[in-house]
Amino acid sequence: MGMDTLGCFNIADLREKARRRLPLGVWEYLERGVEDETGMDRNRSAFDGLTFRPRVLRKVDAIDTRTTIFGQESALPFAIAPTGAAGIMWYRGDHDLARAAAAAGIPFTISSASTMDVEEFADLGGNRWFQLYLWENRELSHDVVRRAHEVGCEALFVTLDLPVPPNREYLAHNGFGMPFALNRRNLPDILAHPRWLTGVIGRYMLSGGIPKQANLPKAMKHSVIRGAKPGALFKQDDLDWDGIKRLRDIWQGAFVLKGILHPDDARMALEVGADGVVVSNHGARALDHSVAAIDALPEVVEAVSGKMTVLLDSGIRRGSDIVKALALGADGAMVGRATLYGLAAAGEPGVARAIDLLGDEVSRTMAMLGLSSIDQIDRAALG
Ligand code: FNR
Repeated sequence: MGMDTLGCFNIADLREKARRRLPLGVWEYLERGVEDETGMDRNRSAFDGLTFRPRVLRKVDAIDTRTTIFGQESALPFAIAPTGAAGIMWYRGDHDLARAAAAAGIPFTISSASTMDVEEFADLGGNRWFQLYLWENRELSHDVVRRAHEVGCEALFVTLDLPVPPNREYLAHNGFGMPFALNRRNLPDILAHPRWLTGVIGRYMLSGGIPKQANLPKAMKHSVIRGAKPGALFKQDDLDWDGIKRLRDIWQGAFVLKGILHPDDARMALEVGADGVVVSNHGARALDHSVAAIDALPEVVEAVSGKMTVLLDSGIRRGSDIVKALALGADGAMVGRATLYGLAAAGEPGVARAIDLLGDEVSRTMAMLGLSSIDQIDRAALG
């Protein structure tokens, strides 16, 4: 495992560092859920309720954590999930996420709500995926998909669990708006976080200004810091399976539907020609009382496993969570907040540290279970 230089020995340590560094509005955007915010605890308690049944004397001196996802090798059985507005947590933060992922040999997913254009990832190397929210003008959405293909993205993830904007009431309470309006109400808090102010906002000011929602069509671009009108970032309440079929037809790479929790939707995904699904409740940021993704996983696996790739996210904070998802039949996992905590704490070294910690935990958990390779992880590991 990489050396610790941050004094952080698990994801919770990175989270605490991130929390102290960020102004309230940015921190709450990273961390919080929706409405009564029951979802994050549910995601955690679902993982915590699963236990392992280790086997002994299985010679675990050579643990191999590599696996293949969409035909590409990944050094570890997880990828970085798409997270919009990472550029407000760290100066050009998406670059740090992408670079750390490439260095660790795991896939990185560019968010269509990123503050950076897809073209800015072209030279970073590594295995890249692209996530899409659809805008009202579907032609413009299809354009960005073509651009993602041109810069070498190997998979397209279409996020389906936000047919309408989520109810983030904390945005109204914390005075930051959606999500980063600078105003008299939040100015004292922003001034109380000088490292963020100089390290993020200061550097943008010196290099051409505050970031925009980069992948947005030109006519819709606007400053993230000034805030977006609700619904400006996407419009997909009129999307149905026919719309998904059209996207499938224009994308040559792996086609993945993100935010699936029902086995019948997974079967439909298979029918429209998807190569994979992400079992996800969006990290409890969409519908508060959604079933925990890890609880919904077994039925989805039963419906489509072997016929398509099944990934899982929502609530992963330890390598052991990833091993649990694999034990229940997932082909891999994705992490959202875990790597963002690393990013907000320390930029690229922080992301590298988060990946290292999770990878080391995966490897140690496998050894404890008597399992030497990813394909040996199955239900027998749980008990
Ligand atoms: C997200 N997520 C997300 N998903 C997506 O498809 N497009 C996006 O732009 C974003 N943006 C985003 C921002 C932030 C700050 C977070 C925390 C999450 C959801 C993300 O891809 C993933 O599903 C969850 O983060 C997984 O849950 P954990 O790992 O955060 O618990």
